[in-house]
Amino acid sequence: MTVHEGKEFGVGDLVLLDNITDEAIAQNLKLRFEKGKIYTFVGEVVLSVNPYKQLNIYGQDVVAQYKNREIHERPPHIFALADAAYKTMRRLNTDTCIVISGESGSGKTEASKIIMRYIAAVTNIQQRAEIERVKNILIQSTCILEAFGNAKTNRNDNSSRFGKYMDINFDFKGDPVGGNIENYLLEKSRVVTQHSGERNFHVFYQLLAGAGEKLLSNLQLKRDFKCYAYIKDGSSASQDKADYNNVAAALSALGVTGPHVDTIWRVVAAILHLGNIAFKKDGDTVKVVNEDVLKTVTKLLQIDQKDFGQALLSRTLAARGEVMDKLLTHDEVFYARDAFAKAIYERLFTWLVKQINESIRPLSQSTTYGKNTVIGVLDIYGFEIFESNTFEQFCINYCNEKLQQLFIELVLKQEQEEYQREGITWTPVEYFNNRTICDLVEAQHNGIIALMDEACLNVGNTTDQTFLEAMDKKFAKHAHYASRQTAPQDKTLVHHRDFRIVHYAGDVVYNVVGFLEKNRDPIFQDFKRVLYNSKDQLVAEMWPEGAAHKTQVTKRPLTTATAFKNSMLALAQKLQQKEPHYVRCIKPNELKSSTLFDERLVHHQIRYLNITQNVRVRRAGFAYRSPYKRFLQRYKLICAQTWPNFSGSDRDGCKAIIEAHRMGQDAAFGKTKLFLRSPQSVHYLEEARNAKLPELVILLQRMWRGAIARRRYKQMLAVRTIIGAYRHYKVRSYLQQLTKTFKGVERRPDFGKSLRWPDPPKTLRRFSDYTKAIFNRWRASKVLRRVPQEEWQQVRTKVAAYEALKGRRGCDVTGKWQGNYLATIHDNADSSAYVQSLNTLRSRDSFKLALFSSFVVKLNRNMKQAERAIVVTEKSIYKMEPQKFKCSKGPLSLDLLTGISVSDGNDQLIVLHFSNKMDLVIGLKSPNARQDRIAELVGVLITRIRQAYKRDLKVTVCSREVPCHLGRKSIRILLHSSPPNGGGSPVFHKHSSDTVAFEPGA
Ligand SMILES: Nc1ncnc2c1ncn2[C@@H]1O[C@H](COP(=O)(O)OP(=O)(O)O)[C@@H](O)[C@H]1O
Ligand SMILES: [Mg+2]
Repeated sequence: MTVHEGKEFGVGDLVLLDNITDEAIAQNLKLRFEKGKIYTFVGEVVLSVNPYKQLNIYGQDVVAQYKNREIHERPPHIFALADAAYKTMRRLNTDTCIVISGESGSGKTEASKIIMRYIAAVTNIQQRAEIERVKNILIQSTCILEAFGNAKTNRNDNSSRFGKYMDINFDFKGDPVGGNIENYLLEKSRVVTQHSGERNFHVFYQLLAGAGEKLLSNLQLKRDFKCYAYIKDGSSASQDKADYNNVAAALSALGVTGPHVDTIWRVVAAILHLGNIAFKKDGDTVKVVNEDVLKTVTKLLQIDQKDFGQALLSRTLAARGEVMDKLLTHDEVFYARDAFAKAIYERLFTWLVKQINESIRPLSQSTTYGKNTVIGVLDIYGFEIFESNTFEQFCINYCNEKLQQLFIELVLKQEQEEYQREGITWTPVEYFNNRTICDLVEAQHNGIIALMDEACLNVGNTTDQTFLEAMDKKFAKHAHYASRQTAPQDKTLVHHRDFRIVHYAGDVVYNVVGFLEKNRDPIFQDFKRVLYNSKDQLVAEMWPEGAAHKTQVTKRPLTTATAFKNSMLALAQKLQQKEPHYVRCIKPNELKSSTLFDERLVHHQIRYLNITQNVRVRRAGFAYRSPYKRFLQRYKLICAQTWPNFSGSDRDGCKAIIEAHRMGQDAAFGKTKLFLRSPQSVHYLEEARNAKLPELVILLQRMWRGAIARRRYKQMLAVRTIIGAYRHYKVRSYLQQLTKTFKGVERRPDFGKSLRWPDPPKTLRRFSDYTKAIFNRWRASKVLRRVPQEEWQQVRTKVAAYEALKGRRGCDVTGKWQGNYLATIHDNADSSAYVQSLNTLRSRDSFKLALFSSFVVKLNRNMKQAERAIVVTEKSIYKMEPQKFKCSKGPLSLDLLTGISVSDGNDQLIVLHFSNKMDLVIGLKSPNARQDRIAELVGVLITRIRQAYKRDLKVTVCSREVPCHLGRKSIRILLHSSPPNGGGSPVFHKHSSDTVAFEPGA
């Protein structure tokens, strides 16, 4: 059956009680105890009532129910607290601690083991070997520490006789990577004496019960514990033998090697033998009765027998460089023997703790990722009241006062102070503050410890009694102190022996006898020297201070009480730096019974543990608080207003979140912190946050992808810049080459026509084409500038002719083109008649220019030839008879001219095609047979048509025949195969009805 399946009894959280009184709380605990519900919450504090029987509530199935849950999600259980400490550590990345308090036998050590096992069970999911090793040692080491540090007392069969504070280090993933154990004040007086009904430390009985015959005989031990004075008053226990085997296994798991294990058992055995050394008076001196036992001891410790014998019986005193031996009295000898036994046992214990620490020491920060965090678990001896209470109880109870103080400070005082500081409406809850008791014990100059130290320092005759008197004087009026002297009517206090302290947990009467001796705790230098010189390396190692020479006066070490006080102060400080969690153990009865619930006893514990006040503060208070900044940071993703960024103050951001989730009723807004009343609210917020986290992952991915894309884009830009720069470079060098090539080009005779253009880069091809064109224009303008303005028209004409004919027909553009040839004597003997006739026409038809004129042979409609003269004006072409230059017909309008056909030879045939199909077929005649005027006429016509009609004439160059129209008739002009020069007088011959041969003039 699991916890969760079980029905709840009473209330699981005392905060829910109707009536908050000690009685009601005890009643509730009783009800639950009887039903096997040993755990109860007070908010986040767990109360644990010792069941004194094995309960099946710690299995793997129960672990699974509590793993990763919020503390109040499941029924009360110590697992819930362990998980909270673990979770808090991981969430806030801070150290946490679990403080376990309660009186002796109430279940603290069990609780600490349960917590350890829980943490081991929920960590290292990835099964890393090193973590398993660390966890294994952490768990196994308890068994060694308990063997050497626990004993049966009248309160508890397995009572811790030392305090233990254990840090477990976690890596950033939350796996335990190491740890450290600190031990406090081992009750070593137990090695030599025990109260009746109690036992010495377990290990002595375990060794005798469990060691093999061979080991026993090596150690010269008998199996019967009654043979040994130090342990004979104890009793054997059924599990001693099995425990011995467990210890042996744990030592090997710890990596303690064979020779060291050997030494451990030899030291333990030596102590047993030591107890049996007997002394007798022999006149003024004291003698050892059983030398053989002494010999055994020296053999086991591998120390010098003579030196040891001497050290037992006398003491070396060193003063001002002089050394002298002083013999001890009969009583002193016994005391020295016991001191020796206690000392070597304590050193052995310390060495074991060191050994454990060494094997679980966490790797240094630099070799691990992220921050290491720590969970500290404090399991320290509980409050003790025995029949006779002495120095050890005094220390132990003082320790409990300190822990109670810490609890009050953190849970009651600080909590209430915080509400006030934060301005939350609050009615203070009264509670008993044990500060005054702590002061009584520890105050710098006026505390009991200070008085004790003072008494110890006094040479001369200070005794326990004088120490008691000093206290009586100092604390006569103290409410928490009493002795027969200060309270003469109290017959329970024995004169000159007892004093009482009213502890928070009850009144304890201490027997002052032995206080000073235990506080001084002398172990004589002679012993240390003997041990330092042991042949056993480990033993020698445990006593380094034995190296000092006889004459050297050693510095007095701190007294036991002061050392203990200091370690308590350090501990309190260490705990205060961590987020605390509390387990408060309650003992249901004094009889270790699983059924008895002693209401009076429990009632008492409830009162002194301040549980009622704890419940009150808790009920009125808030389960959760967080600085605004941290709260906003953690939960901003569950509110649209605050995600991803909130622009207002942190406080307003928190308010927005609280309002968005309708938790206003449960929240209070302090000056710097947000408070939430119920743990359920926190639980709810956490759930909401967890639900949102996947979105956050997606967001992160998006951001990351964006970052990658941006980076790529930047690379692209860079590439473009580089390409740009390269192009720039190419362009620049091209331009430089260009300017270099064409430098001074205007002074070259050909204006750079013959220069080779550099090859342009690809991007500048079009540019190059443009510049070439610009250059050509410029060059043309340069060339043209040499030509007088009035000749420009002629140049234009020549260019037009050249463009039309080049490559197809000869085209001579050299020399001056006369144009109006008939007006020259050279061509026309009767030029004056022509000019007169032309003037008549000009005034009749009002044209301005005669662009071209020539004598021609014309093919007429009958395919006969006729001599004529033609004149090309800017408007039309005139045909005249060649004597009197009279026009027989009207002119042919240039408007109708559509094309020109010429032959590819030098002959002077030219056909002008008109749109009315009345083509003009003529051969030009000139006085100079070598002159070719076809090009000139073509040029004139093209230029004129372009200028006047903005169109281009089609110029056809024919090679064998020229097709044309004479009216409706299509005919072909056959060309002479090998024409001589142009000029002369060409002739047409009719060949057939549609062919005419053209012969150039000779
Ligand atoms: N949770 C528990 N379940 C069963 N037995 C328990 C439990 N807690 C304590 N006990 C019993 O009580 C005894 C004393 O407990 P322990 O933890 O040693 O007390 P403390 O350390 O407070 O002196 C244990 O030996 C065990 O028998
Ligand atoms: Mg204990």
